[in-house]
Amino acid sequence: MAASFKAILALSMLISPCLSSAAQSCSSYTFSSNKVFSSCTELPHLGASLYYNHTAPTDTISIAFKAPQTSTGWVAWGLNPAGTKMVGSQAIVAFFHSNGSMVAYPTQLDSYAPSMAPGAPSFPVSDLSTEYVNKEMIIFATLGLVGGGSKFSHVWQEGSTVLNDVPKAHSTTGENIQSLGTIDFQ
Ligand SMILES: *[C@@H]1O[C@H](CO)[C@@H](O)[C@H](O)[C@H]1NC(C)=O
Ligand SMILES: *[C@@H]1O[C@H](CO)[C@@H](O)[C@H](O)[C@H]1NC(C)=O
Repeated sequence: MAASFKAILALSMLISPCLSSAAQSCSSYTFSSNKVFSSCTELPHLGASLYYNHTAPTDTISIAFKAPQTSTGWVAWGLNPAGTKMVGSQAIVAFFHSNGSMVAYPTQLDSYAPSMAPGAPSFPVSDLSTEYVNKEMIIFATLGLVGGGSKFSHVWQEGSTVLNDVPKAHSTTGENIQSLGTIDFQ
């Protein structure tokens, strides 16, 4: 009896690190560029994750947004300083340009049918880059939050199609209309 209890205990000690790393897979992920972030959160929809560092003295955050995608689709993440949904969001979109390079740029989601053209965001964005690793698109950026505190509404999204280097509309059902929330970068 005691022996089998010890065996079970040993077995559960072997298993539990695997379970906890699955539950926290965002923190176990290693970026190919060796970038590290102090915090990460698995977003509740579209398999996406957000990694961030908040530098309080300069009120900036460095982020990585990561989501599964095929090489012909697009991903986007943004903050909405003016509301809680898509419209008004200052987003960063990433996809494969027709020239074969991945591109990422800020774009303003000013309606439910935004142009998706590059546009200056309402807060500073720097150090923007993107990469495609293991069928996931990753956006890196540094945002100046210009006195906005640490808590924000954010939105994230993915779509299957890019036409003439313009991301086309995402699905308007299921997880694609649930992918929004609040984030506290403190
Ligand atoms: C995030 O902060 C940690 C700890 O200060 C630092 O080691 C790391 O390089 C920072 N990452 C980025 C992407 O700025
Ligand atoms: C592809 O186009 C993008 C956007 O114009 C540009 O930034 C990038 O340098 C181009 N890449 C190549 C390999 O031409």
